[in-house]
Amino acid sequence: MSVLPASAENIEKFADMISSGEAVAFPTETVYGLGVDAGNDEAVAKIFELKGRPQFNPLIVHVRDLAQAERLGVFSPLARSLAKAHWPDALTLVVPRSSDNPSHNEVSLLASAGLPSLALRVPAHPVAQELLAAVQCPLAAPSANKSGHLSPTQAAHVAKDFPNLPTLDGGVCSKGLESTIIGCLEDEPVLLRRGSLDAAALEETLGHKLSYLAEDDSQTAQLAPGRLARHYAPQAGLRLNAETVEQDEALLAFGKDAPSCENLCLNLSPLGNLIEAAANLFSHLHELDTTATRIAVMPIPNEGLGAAINDRLERAAAASK
Ligand code: TXA
Ligand code: MG
Repeated sequence: MSVLPASAENIEKFADMISSGEAVAFPTETVYGLGVDAGNDEAVAKIFELKGRPQFNPLIVHVRDLAQAERLGVFSPLARSLAKAHWPDALTLVVPRSSDNPSHNEVSLLASAGLPSLALRVPAHPVAQELLAAVQCPLAAPSANKSGHLSPTQAAHVAKDFPNLPTLDGGVCSKGLESTIIGCLEDEPVLLRRGSLDAAALEETLGHKLSYLAEDDSQTAQLAPGRLARHYAPQAGLRLNAETVEQDEALLAFGKDAPSCENLCLNLSPLGNLIEAAANLFSHLHELDTTATRIAVMPIPNEGLGAAINDRLERAAAASK
C-alpha cells in the first residue's frame, strides 16, 4: 500500500526517502504535491519524467518559513510584507534567486527551469509543515498529477495517477485549488496566477490594486520583456543538432560519441541517460555560457525527457539569435 497515514513515524520515513533522492506525495491545504529534495538535480528531473510533461516548467519550492525563504531568494520590502502578512498560506511568491551559495546548493537550476528567479511557498497544512521540519531541505513540488490531469485534493486522487508513489495521507485539502502566485521581480508586485488566496486580501496588504499578468499570456510577456523571464535564454548562440564542432564553439555533448572539441566540452550524460541529461541541462548551459560565445549542441533523442530537453534547447536557441 503506497498511501500511508501521516503519523510522526511515517513523516520521518518520508523525510528519509526524500533525503535519499526519492519522490513522494504530500498534502498541502491547496492540493497534494509531488515533492523531492529541491537541491537534488536528478530527483528534480524525475518529477518531470513522472508527470510526463513535454516541457520543463519551473516548479514551486516549498519552505518552512520566511527565514528559510530568505536564504534562497531576495525579498523586496513589498515581497516581505506579503510574506509576513500571509505565510503560511496558499501564496507563492516569485522572487529573484539569491546569488549566494545556499540558493545554488539548495535549489537545483532545473527546479526553476534555468530562470534566475524562484517561486517560493510556505504551506500551512500541518503535515506539510512537519515534513518540511523533518527533512530540512526545501521541497520542489508541482501538483501530484500527470500532466493534463486534474490536481489531486485527496490521497486517493494521487494514487489514481501514481499507484506506486509513496503518499502521505493528510485528508481532503481544505482549499482544493492551487496557490495564488505573485511575481515580485520588480518594484511593483504582479498577479501571475489566480488561486485560492483571494487577491483582494493581498491588495489590502499592499494598499493598492494588483495588475494581472497571466502566466500563459505570451503577448503581454513580449510587450513587457524583462518583466518576467519566461524561459532561460543564454547569451551565447546555440547551434542545435551539431555533428561537428567549429573552432570558436564550446560543446554541449550527449552520449559516448562526442566529436572532438578544442574548447570547453560538457557532456549531459556520457551514458546517454535522459534523466541524467535533464539534471545537468541548465547547469551545463550556464557554465558553457560563461566561457563561450557560441555553443554547439549534439542531437538529443526526442523521447521521454528528451522531448522536454529539446523544447528548452529550441527556445534557448531562438532567444539567442
Ligand atoms: O498550490 C500549489 O501551488 C501547488 C502545491 C503543491 O503547492 N503547486 C502547484 O505547482 O500548483 P505547479 O507546478 O502545478 O505550478 C507551478 C506554477 C507554474 O505555473 C509556473 O509557471 C509557476 O508556478 N512558476 C514557478 N516558478 C516560477 C518562476 N520562477 N517564474 C514564474 N512562474 C513560476
Ligand atoms: Mg498543476
